[in-house]
Amino acid sequence: MTREDLVKEVLAGRPANAAATAAAQAPANIALIKYWGKRDPELNLPVTDSLSVSLGEFGTHTSLTLTAGPGDQVTLNGERLAADSQFVSRVSRFLDLFRPAGAGFRVATHNTIPTAAGLASSASGYAALVKALDRLFAWNLPPRDLSILARLGSGSACRSVVEGFVHWHAGERADGLDSFAERLPVTWPDLRVGLVLVATEPKPVSSRDGMNRTTAASDFYPAWPARAAADLAAIQPAIAANDLPQTGRIAEANALAMHATMLAARPPLLYWRPQTVAVFEQVRHLRRDGVQVYFTIDAGPNVKLLFTAAAEDRLRTVFPTLETAAPFRLAAGNHT
Ligand code: PMV
Repeated sequence: MTREDLVKEVLAGRPANAAATAAAQAPANIALIKYWGKRDPELNLPVTDSLSVSLGEFGTHTSLTLTAGPGDQVTLNGERLAADSQFVSRVSRFLDLFRPAGAGFRVATHNTIPTAAGLASSASGYAALVKALDRLFAWNLPPRDLSILARLGSGSACRSVVEGFVHWHAGERADGLDSFAERLPVTWPDLRVGLVLVATEPKPVSSRDGMNRTTAASDFYPAWPARAAADLAAIQPAIAANDLPQTGRIAEANALAMHATMLAARPPLLYWRPQTVAVFEQVRHLRRDGVQVYFTIDAGPNVKLLFTAAAEDRLRTVFPTLETAAPFRLAAGNHT
């Protein structure tokens, strides 16, 4: 099935009365059980389920205005981007899926995730864009359908349409209609996610290319689906019990196992810098000193920490530039 056909399927029977303008917000998310590998690159269908935590107020605000066209105008953090930039071409190609004939879009997008931290904002970006489209066209889609549409922009974006802990079901269908993310009915008010900056320049290999290289050319990739399924089953009760050591141990090992699949690719893929490994060591040191802190890492050199509010002051003495998200600060007790 093509992206266009899938969009038609999701929007069947929905109105298309465009308002002049609409805005929406979506959180960034950090996976504790990683998404690594696609069974369908066109529809961003994953090989495995994954599980993330949304970062509350760290994310993207986007406003969308329909114009007479042709062409789209995109500003990012207040700066107008060149029409031929990679960012604008990718956004325009995504907007093509929803574009009324001949129309253009004015997109103003603002990241509240520290941009200097060099963290992927495509997840919150495409989730905010889909939520803004839903308001612009008054579709009123349920979160499941918003998640399916956001997935077409970037796989991990499907987990950013909701707050809290989020489970992305890989699904089995070729049309992708059963591959969506949903919020778990769990809160963890004192959980914190910290961002440790190691490098800010763009990474040499995108996660899309890194994933494709690993699935195609790593002898270790065949071991990944069973590892991911076992970690997913083990982490859910740990999260439900707000058990940080257990949750952290599983998340840390899962992230390292994902990187092991990349290291075994030919040619190998190594996203770490010396400073990345130094942060791993500092985390282990802190644990030996009795501080409960764990790390996870995506397709880049920066490290994310998992801890609880009680450890924050101590961590700040070791990582002075730490940026901290409190995933449940705004929505404690709200499961929707
Ligand atoms: O959604 P993408 O294509 O940016 O891929 C995200 C991949 C990881 O960040 C490494 C893992 C994940 O589950 O977010």
